[in-house]
Amino acid sequence: MDAFSEAVETLRKSKHTTAFTGAGISVESGIPPFRGPEGLWSKYDPRVLDIDYFYNHPAEAWKVIREIFYDFFGKAKPNPAHFALADMEKAGLLSAVITQNIDNLHQEAGSKTVYEYHGNSKRLVCPKCGKKWSVDKISLEDLPPRCPEDQAVLKPDFIFFGEGIPPLAARKSEEEAYQAEVFLLIGTTGEVMPAAMIPRMARNHDAVIIEINPQPSAYTYDITDIYLRGKAGDTMNRIVRELRS
Ligand code: APR
Repeated sequence: MDAFSEAVETLRKSKHTTAFTGAGISVESGIPPFRGPEGLWSKYDPRVLDIDYFYNHPAEAWKVIREIFYDFFGKAKPNPAHFALADMEKAGLLSAVITQNIDNLHQEAGSKTVYEYHGNSKRLVCPKCGKKWSVDKISLEDLPPRCPEDQAVLKPDFIFFGEGIPPLAARKSEEEAYQAEVFLLIGTTGEVMPAAMIPRMARNHDAVIIEINPQPSAYTYDITDIYLRGKAGDTMNRIVRELRS
């Protein structure tokens, strides 16, 4: 059996499948990945996402953050890979999506159970009162944006370098890693900790690892059982078509 048919049969038989996604699933939506020659960190200084730099230079950091995450990414729409995962969930073939992405595209495609391991850029949080605001309700004209209630500088509700993983997402992701029969990795390098531990935990609990990525990742020759070399959109479309037939 070829790798594609094996992946489809494994997904069909699985009683608990969890998807684990990274920047690669959103590349076909026009969002560049972080690493690599076309990656964000080859163009921008990652220090704007360092938590200490942010609090010490909020206006400067916000200028770059607005350009990357709101002016540019803000317009991205879900692609066929996001829709395919939402379809699988609706059909009872997918328990949850754990995503490292902060772009909200899984939710926009219709996925219901999404654990945001690194948070979500569509919300802003007030570090003083803890209140969260939808970014649509806050003007980003004058920077930095401030909490309408106490005037503290608002921070995007995604995690910066130096911050911890949101506790609920961390706990739910570990539960998925303990329970899943199949982990479906899509578009992630496996180089960023602690996220990269989740698929490894799943493998230690006997999950079958299926991976979709045009380039081999840190997982491919380490924990991946079935490697589908290719882009997320096309590969997921074909998988869902087969699963329906
Ligand atoms: N389809 C699937 N995968 C793709 C595609 C595509 N069309 N295009 C690129 N990829 C793959 C790349 O081969 C690479 O393995 O997506 C991966 C993107 O890698 P990274 O940019 O490193 O993204 P990721 O692993 O999600 O990064 C994790 O790093 O800086 C942090 O918090 C940030 O969540 C991010 C984390």
